[in-house]
Amino acid sequence: MKLLEVTNLVKRYRDGEARVDVIRQINFSMNEGDFVSIRGASGAGKSTFLNLLGALDTFDEGDILMQNKSLRLYAKEEGLAAYRRDKIGFIFQNHYLMADFTVLENAMFPLLIQKKKKIEARDRAAGILNRVGLGHRLHHYPSQISGGESQRAAVARALVHEPALVLADEPTGNLDAKNRRLFIELLNSLQQEKNLSILVVTHEEDLASAAQRQYLMQDGQLLDWR
Ligand SMILES: Nc1ncnc2c1ncn2[C@@H]1O[C@H](COP(=O)(O)OP(=O)(O)OP(=O)(O)O)[C@@H](O)[C@H]1O
Ligand SMILES: [Mg+2]
Repeated sequence: MKLLEVTNLVKRYRDGEARVDVIRQINFSMNEGDFVSIRGASGAGKSTFLNLLGALDTFDEGDILMQNKSLRLYAKEEGLAAYRRDKIGFIFQNHYLMADFTVLENAMFPLLIQKKKKIEARDRAAGILNRVGLGHRLHHYPSQISGGESQRAAVARALVHEPALVLADEPTGNLDAKNRRLFIELLNSLQQEKNLSILVVTHEEDLASAAQRQYLMQDGQLLDWR
């Protein structure tokens, strides 16, 4: 099943008189269950592309269709906040866990903003936290867990509402070699087990090559890797 279709996508920044196209006419698509990676030099446009897909930023030309519905239409109808809340799971380089909330509460958050009942949110959050190996850390605060654990908590938070698409921007950027390996194993096994659709942007060869389909972003364009 087709999940995502990107057509002739352009993102342009204006700097006074000058205009710079940072995303240049990208065509791209994903099916449900695809695990895709994008490598590329710093400044190539990787984060910009991910942010466009996640509706964290707006594009200038072309279109993005999620499950056959244009983001332009989403913006008019339910709104892009609803799109992000319901369709996307984000994982960033920094875990962005909320310091004043426990690991469990952090992982419940996406369900609470979907107005799910607290008891359901707690059950589902505890379930996915168990799955990522944090069953013994539910009531700890982010400051009381390690960097690797924090990133696994961020994975739980990204998956708890079963998003259509998981977007990960340098998710292993702050991890040491051992935690990076654990993270990649976890992502791989979750992807297969839950048939997740994942788009990951990374500098790191081991993570990039874990994906089934691999691209290179170069000057705002997507090329097949190798
Ligand atoms: N708000 C902005 N205004 C102007 N230019 C911007 C803005 N945000 C990003 N850019 C430019 O867009 C280009 C792509 O940036 P982007 O962050 O997408 O790169 P990246 O591939 O993610 O790089 P990195 O690997 O360093 O994270 C860069 O040249 C950057 O300077
Ligand atoms: Mg980036």
